[in-house]
Amino acid sequence: MGALPSTAIVGVIGAGTMGAGIAQVAAKAGHSVLLFDAAPGAAKSGIERIEKGLRKLVERKKYSALESDAILSRLTPCDRIEELAPAKLVVEAIVENLDVKRQVFSSLEVLCSEDTILATNTSSISVTSIGAGLTRPENLVGMHFFNPAPVMKLVEVISGIATAPEVAVQVFDTALEWGKKPVHARSTPGFIVNRVARPFYAESLRVLQEGGANAPTIDAIARECGGFRMGPFELMDLIGNDVNFAVTQSVFNAYFQDSRFKPSLVQQELVEAGYLGRKSGRGFYQYAQGAESPLPATAKPQAKPRQVIVSDALGVAESLVEQANLCGIAIDRNKSITRPGIYIDDVCIALSDGRTATQISAEDNFPNVVLFDLCLDFTQSRRIALTRSDQCSEAGLQKAIGFFQALDKQVSVIDDLPGMVLMRTVCMLVNEGADAVNQRVCNEAAVDLAMQAGVNYPCGPLAWADNLGLDRVVAVLDNLAAGYGEDRYRVSPLLRRKVYAGTHFYDRNV
Ligand code: NAI
Repeated sequence: MGALPSTAIVGVIGAGTMGAGIAQVAAKAGHSVLLFDAAPGAAKSGIERIEKGLRKLVERKKYSALESDAILSRLTPCDRIEELAPAKLVVEAIVENLDVKRQVFSSLEVLCSEDTILATNTSSISVTSIGAGLTRPENLVGMHFFNPAPVMKLVEVISGIATAPEVAVQVFDTALEWGKKPVHARSTPGFIVNRVARPFYAESLRVLQEGGANAPTIDAIARECGGFRMGPFELMDLIGNDVNFAVTQSVFNAYFQDSRFKPSLVQQELVEAGYLGRKSGRGFYQYAQGAESPLPATAKPQAKPRQVIVSDALGVAESLVEQANLCGIAIDRNKSITRPGIYIDDVCIALSDGRTATQISAEDNFPNVVLFDLCLDFTQSRRIALTRSDQCSEAGLQKAIGFFQALDKQVSVIDDLPGMVLMRTVCMLVNEGADAVNQRVCNEAAVDLAMQAGVNYPCGPLAWADNLGLDRVVAVLDNLAAGYGEDRYRVSPLLRRKVYAGTHFYDRNV
């Protein structure tokens, strides 16, 4: 079937933030675009906003004046919905209200030809329920762009129960033709991104609520250790705590209060206080003029150890050994040590496995346990988070700090919470992505592409899981489940199956 030919007319309904962006994308791809909005003058002012944006891009030499003029010449404002009759694809980006959307699509069915594809940009309403009551629900599909639509590459192509497969494929191919990175998904709450991303916020909110670390420290760990562009609290402040909280609540309720998606009391309180983030001048951080940016917790310099003893299997953290060697620390590799870790005298430094350091100390009858958190790349990361068991001495902690500082890393010491910060967050992102695959919402590649192209994750969660080792992911989740005694941390059956089978998400690590 292939993409819609560029000669096909595209209709866009709703000329707000998303509609104007989508109209620009379609016009750039060569389509004549009819833009309609119910508010008088809104379609025209939508096109004026596009023009303003394009002018800036021409000034910055991203576009030629010719290209910009061509895009604008293909955009036509409409005052009446009837003017969309010749469109072969209509993308709806109006108010997020089921009844209003149904009404609009019912009108379009009558106006447009029988083979016109009707697409909704909804981010939270079921495509299946929008299609219910239509004469031709097979022609309705979700085409979920991300804000700002001209910039963000991801388009989630959402099939409702009645959507014809060839309609979804044509919209997918059209999005590709428009320079986007589309993924297929079944209509389920949150689709892919708004579902899989929940733990990014939720786990950090829990660490904050339990006093594990403060917001700037958690943000620094996410950015500097995890490679995320923004930390969770910076991002919630940018999105708006009201908006982010509403999305979490909507997903939570849509999954019948599944504890995996439970909203946070901490965020609710911010919303109640009117601390909405950047837009209100205060959220997790203060944005008033002259307000200081609080710094992450960073440990004072400690002595570099002369020698460490290293067990056999450090797994994903193996590169630390090479780094230690390069900075002149003598390495004694002792393969007979059963507890994986780096040992300095009577101190064991180990990667978090979802248990607290205190639990490990007690179980192993070994007082000086210091755990380190996950890093996307242990060589590149300039920061690392550490925690010590309640049984561990101050001197023991200082030795561990000195070791990582010798490797040129800033050290953030956090309180002893199960799974620390990044380890629990990444394992929960993996779990959610795996469960979406397990429930046939989408395939593995769609999860990873969606999280990279839709919300700029440094790496797809499932590729990250392969790299980390699926057995480690499952162990962390099992330990979190045992530690908290909560169903929230239950392991996706697909993850456990892969561990039993000894398989991965991808044939080779990406
Ligand atoms: P917006 O409020 O900026 O624009 C909505 C526009 O639709 C307004 O201009 C309004 O006058 C018009 N409108 C309302 N009812 C109408 C009707 N019956 N017929 C024609 N026009 C009508 O909203 P925004 O942010 O552009 O969102 C639009 C849709 O896109 C919503 O479904 C939203 O959930 C979805 N979405 C929003 C994203 C965002 O970041 N803002 C991201 C992805 C999806």
